[in-house]
Amino acid sequence: MHDPRDLEITRRDVLKVGAVSAAAAAVPQVAKGQNAVPPSPVLTKVSLNVNGKPREMTLDTRTTLLDALREHLHLTGTKKGCDQGQCGACTVIVDGRRINSCLTLAVMHGGDSITTIEGLGTPGHLHPMQAAFVKHDGYQCGYCTPGQICSAVAVLSEIKAGVPSHVSADLAVSPQVTAVELRERMSGNICRCAAYSNIVDAISEVARSNA
Ligand code: FES
Ligand code: FES
Repeated sequence: MHDPRDLEITRRDVLKVGAVSAAAAAVPQVAKGQNAVPPSPVLTKVSLNVNGKPREMTLDTRTTLLDALREHLHLTGTKKGCDQGQCGACTVIVDGRRINSCLTLAVMHGGDSITTIEGLGTPGHLHPMQAAFVKHDGYQCGYCTPGQICSAVAVLSEIKAGVPSHVSADLAVSPQVTAVELRERMSGNICRCAAYSNIVDAISEVARSNA
């Protein structure tokens, strides 16, 4: 009769051999991956209209709109926060609608009209939303502020156009500029300095002056 320990040893041996074989098979794959040459970038011409001016660039097709603006056009007012669509620091206005420029490729916007914070106003001639942010202290460090302001400008256009939000109580009537509506619509723009109340005050003032 067999000693059960003989069987145990046999099973272990089989497992060891199996593990060694699997590792041996993996080695050429790993080596292949380490020696792989990354594919060359595919370049293409992109024409955008940025802040009212036609801009032509030759870009790697993988370039985000955010990187095209910051790294190629040197419009560094648009900020890179999370680079994954979660903070709103990179918000710009494209054909009247706000988008997270880190989540879209520049090549997808050929011919589009893009407005960044630099296109809204200048230090000597602020856009009313910029002036309201200054007046109401709608920022501290200012990192989120360009995205907040671009978003706020687009939010007032959305409300004026009657676009409802998640908190609009009645879809049959035009939404109003209330603190609840503004907080909901601005919820994709994060402010680490927590200037939220002042931001709502600033946007409300601009809405009142436009009424
Ligand atoms: Fe685009 Fe944060 S950098 S959403
Ligand atoms: Fe500092 Fe908003 S002002 S993150």
